[in-house]
Formats: sequence, C-alpha cells, structure tokens
Amino acid sequence: MSPDISISDSGSVNTRFSYETRSAVMSISDDNSLVMASPAPSIYSVTESIRQQSYRVEHGRIVNNYSDVYGLPADEEETYRLNEQHQFFTHMFGPFPQILYEILAPDSSTQKAVIDLGCGSGAWIYDVARAFPHCRAVGVDLAPIPGPSPPNFTGEIDDINLGLQHHYSQFDVVHTRFVAQGIQDYESYIDHMAKCLRPNGLLILCEFDFKIYRLDRVPYPPWGPSYTPNGQYIDTPFLCHWFNALNRAIESRGGSLAAEYMYDWAKNHPFFDGAEVAHQEMYFPFGPYSLTQELISLGYDAIKLNRVGEMVRNDVHSFLRGGRVMLLSNMSEGEVDLLENPAHIELENMQFPGLARVITVYARRKANVENTLVHKWNH
Ligand SMILES: C[S@@+](CC[C@H](N)C(=O)[O-])C[C@H]1O[C@@H](n2cnc3c(N)ncnc32)[C@H](O)[C@@H]1O
Repeated sequence: MSPDISISDSGSVNTRFSYETRSAVMSISDDNSLVMASPAPSIYSVTESIRQQSYRVEHGRIVNNYSDVYGLPADEEETYRLNEQHQFFTHMFGPFPQILYEILAPDSSTQKAVIDLGCGSGAWIYDVARAFPHCRAVGVDLAPIPGPSPPNFTGEIDDINLGLQHHYSQFDVVHTRFVAQGIQDYESYIDHMAKCLRPNGLLILCEFDFKIYRLDRVPYPPWGPSYTPNGQYIDTPFLCHWFNALNRAIESRGGSLAAEYMYDWAKNHPFFDGAEVAHQEMYFPFGPYSLTQELISLGYDAIKLNRVGEMVRNDVHSFLRGGRVMLLSNMSEGEVDLLENPAHIELENMQFPGLARVITVYARRKANVENTLVHKWNH
C-alpha cells in the first residue's frame, strides 16, 4: 500500500494530498489505477491491501470500513440486490428521463460530465457512461465500485460527508440515489451538490422514505392496529415494525431520513428556481398481494400490480437481511429475530397490502449564480 494513504482512528481515509476541508479522496480509473484528488493528482495502483482496508466484517456481513454512519453491507449479496433493484427501476420507468438526453447532448466546446454520489454497484452510472460515451462519468462511494467499468468512467472511494469541494462547478448532471441513510446533513449535502453543477446543470435526488403505505396511500401507523381501505381490521404488519426499527437505527447512527424534506430543501436553495424544481412520487408493492379481490374492488389492475410485486419481493427479502446489520447497532440478536423472521413470512404470504414510496426531485441550477454566493451553508 502506498505510504501516502492511511486509515485514521475515525475510520476515514487520510492522504497527504488532502486539501481544503477534505481528508481523503481516492479515485479508481478504468485501468484500475488510483487517483488521489489533490492540486496535482497522482496515480497509484489499487493494491489488494487498499481493497482489504476498505471493508470490515460486522455481524457476519462485509461492510464499508470508512463510515460509521452508513451501515448496510458492501458485499456480493448487496451488489446483486442493487443491480436487481436498478433493473427493476429501469424496467418500470425507462432508462433515463428525457431531460438527461438534452443536457448530455454532445457539445463541441466542452466535454459533458456526470457524477453519481453513493453509486454502490455502479449500475446507474455505468448505464449513463455507456449510453453517453462522449461524457465523463464519475462514481463516488465508500467502498470500491465493482468492475468492469466503461472506459469513460472514473471511480472514487470517499466519504461524501467530508464535502465535495474538489468537484465544484464540474458537472452537468449530479445524481444521488438511496444514500440518505449515510448522509449526516442532507440539506447541506444539497448545497454541496448544487455547487458541483455547471450553469443549467441538473440535480437528481431519489430516496425511499422507509414507510409502508396502504392501498389508499396512507402510511400504516408506526405501531398498533390498522384497517384496510375496505374496513378490514389488521395489525400493523411486522414489516412496518421492521422499518420503524431501521429508521431508529439510521437516526442513532447519525444518518438522514431526507425523502420527505428534500423537495423543500431543493426548492428553497438559492441556486435553483423554486418554481422549476420538480417532484415525483412512485408507489409500488412490496410483493404480490394475495387478496386480489380487494385490489380489484379498489380499481387496481391486480395482475399488473402483482407482477411488479413479484419483481420487488426478493429485493425486500435481501434488504431485510442486509438491514439486520443496521438494526443490530441498537438491538439484540433476539429482538431483531422477533421482527425480521415474521417480516420474511409476511412477505411470502403478502396477506396485507403494502406499498413502498420512492421520491425523486429534479432541480436545474440557475445560469447565473456563483458558488461564492453567501448563504447559510457557506463554509
Ligand atoms: C443503498 S446503496 C444505493 C446505491 C446506488 N445509488 C443505487 O441506487 O443503486 C447506498 C450507497 O451509498 C453509499 N454511501 C452511503 N453513504 C455514503 C457516504 N457518506 N459517502 C459515500 N458513499 C456513501 C453506500 O456505500 C452504498 O453503496
């Protein structure tokens, strides 16, 4: 391992090339070399020891070694889950929104650039890199991004919570999806991302809110009894209890539950024209609901909904197994078993109607604001 890189007591990576408020940046380019972000970047090979130092084992799963906030695994099962989840969203909603094609259209005066923050398995940013080969594509994550990667892709191992100053004013698109639980201050994160954009650049935020909704899109109460839209009494599903426990674990580890607030935060940020900030909500089932008559009586296309549920169910099983590591940060094995085991069974039987909600926010940076604009996040 290069002597220029060390792992601090806090678990963050430090390099002698650190600048501004950063403590670390390591970038892996497509030839598997490591780029240190510094005033004069240097290239190193990604050695086996760097890879090994990126991970530790917690409760039988491999997790990242750089952040005590983000606690989901970073192993093969999680990579598979993220790839499948990405396929699901691509299948449901198409590869990219139309605006992405407009913003990333080739321009003879400058190379267009996209960054995906908390890119996980790289599924989204690799798709972008392949679809827009003339663009520079960058992915940032706490753990090494699995290859093989497209030739126009560069990966960085970094903790986003340390700031994004080295990426300011460089990107036409900034994308971040399902990372809020690893972000300490999401409102300030939006500020950093806004500053990474070039004029008229597009910010895309996408998050689950980790609640379970009934078919009438009312969330189940955190605890206690509930009623289906047809008036049938049911206990709050164990899946809801499990998600409540996850929410508590996220908060106790210092992560954000940002899904419900990020639209307002983006709208109120001075770099965006509030009237132009768009907000999209998508609901989809956790699994195929066994009481199809109820779906039909409520006007749902039961076959379509259940087909979607089939696609999602395995992802949720895997998410429950991965999230176990998070829950164990403030619960005993026995307590977690009492939530997780019935949640798996519920998911198989699906005798309760449960919808998940994903929120996406699109915001375009104004053409004429400077990063020096003084406001509450300037630091
Ligand atoms: C649930 S995964 C989502 C991955 C990807 N965005 C997707 O949609 O498939 C969250 C990813 O964000 C990364 N992450 C979370 N907090 C982070 C942080 N503070 N800095 C860098 N990456 C972070 C995790 O390591 C993980 O790979």
